[in-house]
Amino acid sequence: MRYAFLLVACAVALLVAPSLRAADPDTKGVEFFESKVRPVLVEQCYKCHSAQTGKARGNLTLDTRAALLKGGDTGPAVVPGNPEKSLLIAAVRHDGDLKMPPKTKLPDAVVKDLRRWVEMGAPDPRDRAPAAVSNIDWTKARGFWSFRPVRKPALPSVKDASWPKSDTDRFILARLEAEGLHPVAAADRRTLLRRATFDLTGLPPTPDEIDTFLHDDSPDAFAKVVDRLLKSPQYGERWARHWLDVARYAEDQAHTFAVKPNTEAFRYRDWVIDALNADMPYDLFVKRQIAADLMEGNEPDGYKQRAALGFFGLGAQYYKNSDAARAAADELDDRIDTLGRGFLGLTVSCARCHDHKFDPIPTQDYYSLAGVFYSCKLADLPMVPKAEADRYADAKKPVLEADRKLKELEKAEKSKATTEGKERIKGLKAELEKLKKSAPPPLPMAHALADATATDLHVYVRGNPAQQGDLAPRRFLRVLSGAEPPRFTKGSGRLELAEAIASKDNPLTARVLVNRVWAWHFGRGLVGTPSNFGQLGERPTHPELLDDLAARFVENGWSLKWLHREVLLSATYQQSSEANVKSQAADPDNRLLGRMNRRRLEVEAWRDSLLAVSGQLDRSFGGPTVDLNAGQNRRRTVYCKVSRHELNGLLRLFDFPDANITSERRTETTVPQQQLFVLNSPFFVGQAKALAARVGAEERDDTARVRRAYLLAYGRPATDAELLLALRYLGGKDDPSERNGLTRWERYAQALLAMNEFLYVD
Ligand code: HEC
Ligand code: HEC
Repeated sequence: MRYAFLLVACAVALLVAPSLRAADPDTKGVEFFESKVRPVLVEQCYKCHSAQTGKARGNLTLDTRAALLKGGDTGPAVVPGNPEKSLLIAAVRHDGDLKMPPKTKLPDAVVKDLRRWVEMGAPDPRDRAPAAVSNIDWTKARGFWSFRPVRKPALPSVKDASWPKSDTDRFILARLEAEGLHPVAAADRRTLLRRATFDLTGLPPTPDEIDTFLHDDSPDAFAKVVDRLLKSPQYGERWARHWLDVARYAEDQAHTFAVKPNTEAFRYRDWVIDALNADMPYDLFVKRQIAADLMEGNEPDGYKQRAALGFFGLGAQYYKNSDAARAAADELDDRIDTLGRGFLGLTVSCARCHDHKFDPIPTQDYYSLAGVFYSCKLADLPMVPKAEADRYADAKKPVLEADRKLKELEKAEKSKATTEGKERIKGLKAELEKLKKSAPPPLPMAHALADATATDLHVYVRGNPAQQGDLAPRRFLRVLSGAEPPRFTKGSGRLELAEAIASKDNPLTARVLVNRVWAWHFGRGLVGTPSNFGQLGERPTHPELLDDLAARFVENGWSLKWLHREVLLSATYQQSSEANVKSQAADPDNRLLGRMNRRRLEVEAWRDSLLAVSGQLDRSFGGPTVDLNAGQNRRRTVYCKVSRHELNGLLRLFDFPDANITSERRTETTVPQQQLFVLNSPFFVGQAKALAARVGAEERDDTARVRRAYLLAYGRPATDAELLLALRYLGGKDDPSERNGLTRWERYAQALLAMNEFLYVD
């Protein structure tokens, strides 16, 4: 849809207005304007030419710089630097047809001041567009549920006081009771352990872990499990992948071949994993991804955090040859869309071409944010202390110098091709190789952002960079701050933007995150549209619970691990996924959470579990990306390459999101190719063989082997009927025509791994 709109915008953009971009007026110019010019305009002109008085005689308003430059019926009122061509000056001189003010002529000294001001380039800080703002009733706009401040509500009273284990449960139960419903029974211990283990680590519980939990009679047995899982490094691997969906993480580009792949993208992925394992406070987690490089002053080893900037540093890049300005605008849009929906749950990007049609976001606010990113550039930053980076640069100098010499010589010798020249080139090449060998190994680099020249943008009218409208000073969204948010003044403004987003007074940031975490635990958010908290998004099913969690999340230091504990230790989470007839009929979508949702594993958890159960999983941690299809790749899926250009077939087949845009949730498709993969793919068959070999080695007879396989794959003992069936099959006579080169045990293991019970979690 977006591209269709761009075409429309292109067609409309034939009338190209002069560029209105101006350097920030210098202080001296502004002082002159404030003392000599503004008073004259206000006193002598506004009564007939101002949005504030509602008068625009000759279609001219004089209360913003943009309006002056645009002018009225006759054209621009002012041409900066050129009084002769400025209609305004002609008008106040009273020496032509147009005489302003109409009745009295301004004193000569005043006319001279106006002239001088135009000569100075007409410096003018009044660059707000009152007209655009006045369309939105900000007070009313801020009354929308998601823009209201987060308030901790009173705990509701419930009839069944014995059910709730936590405050969360009281909110859930109160809603159910109001509908005449009641939660289902609690899940059994095996189910609960399997659920929690998959949920927090993306892997199944081991038979030992199951055994320990089943034999722990202490009242806090499950709390201990939750703590153990939160402490395991696999927690970060699992939850980083959730965040990477939001961050549209990928290591290359779909739209251009002109840039090299981001070979060190994995440093951002590993940064996210480490941050989650360390329970980095979410506000800091947000700030670092926007502005880690600008926060280093306060942190001795801040350089380690530079990888966080991959959130933007790995963003989309577009092909720049045909229409560079538009490609650059598309890149800005990628940053704004990911920032807006990812952190704020707002579709700010809808305000790129027109004021947002549903939410209080004027185009000017879009370009206020765009200006921040326009003032930045992509940069590879070394992740070492400055002294080390300097040493590296010094050590690298001889190589660069030799390289330069060689290139020069090659250029000079190109046409001549003398024997002597060829010899010298050969010599230089050898020298360069030698230098390269003794040069230090490359530094770890972060694909990041860095500040460039700070620049305010003008609104791109209809999204067209060639047609510029009102100035859009760099500052935060108005609906989330005052009517006149302070301008960003430090460099690009990235740090100020980060602080505005991660502020505890921002009503969206904590709500959006708490809702995401809820959705990742339950399969559905309290708000069903995790990246859209605007008019077109869904309303929360439990607004008070959402606020209660958001408020306490912030009180508890923005700790994600606190939030996980809060969720997992609730009675709500610990319910069975078996619906009773009444609640199934009354609440088929389970919006009121009177039971747990049965969930399908995401492709990562599914593939990782196949490897874990077969005993093949390589648990090594972090480091460079590996291609998923590389022979013998047995690492967790989070470490596999993610491409925008050509997504791996397995990932695509099992609903991995398109990394070109931020993704709010996984879709779930069921297509025949998935079953074919299970039947035929060498990977799947390989795991079946490995599982058969594993239980063959671990147990002495088929009965024990079948039992072990059930425990490994499903976390439960085989029933008598299942055991009988298995033994009958395993003891059967082989029909060579059915064998596919697999033994009975291997085929049996393949069937076990292919069952729905393996793929679904109750
Ligand atoms: C009493 C009302 C009134 C006041 C005060 C006034 N103007 Fe005007 N202005 C007009 C009207 C009406 C027009 C439309 C053209 C005309 O009728 O001459 C106009 C037109 C203009 C235009 C030309 C617009 C165009 O593009 O055609 C300029 C420039 C202008 N005014 C500048 C000024 C300035 C500068 C001041 C103050 C120093 C001023 N005016 C004060 C009424 C006023
Ligand atoms: C690339 C430019 C562009 C972007 C981005 C864009 N639009 Fe539009 N949109 C247009 C144009 C052009 C029109 C038709 C002219 C108009 O109504 O301003 C339009 C019209 C609309 C209309 C019809 C308005 C009416 O009054 O009939 C709606 C609704 C709308 N857009 C919603 C959205 C939403 C929601 C988004 C974000 C998901 C969005 N637009 C993003 C360019 C864009």
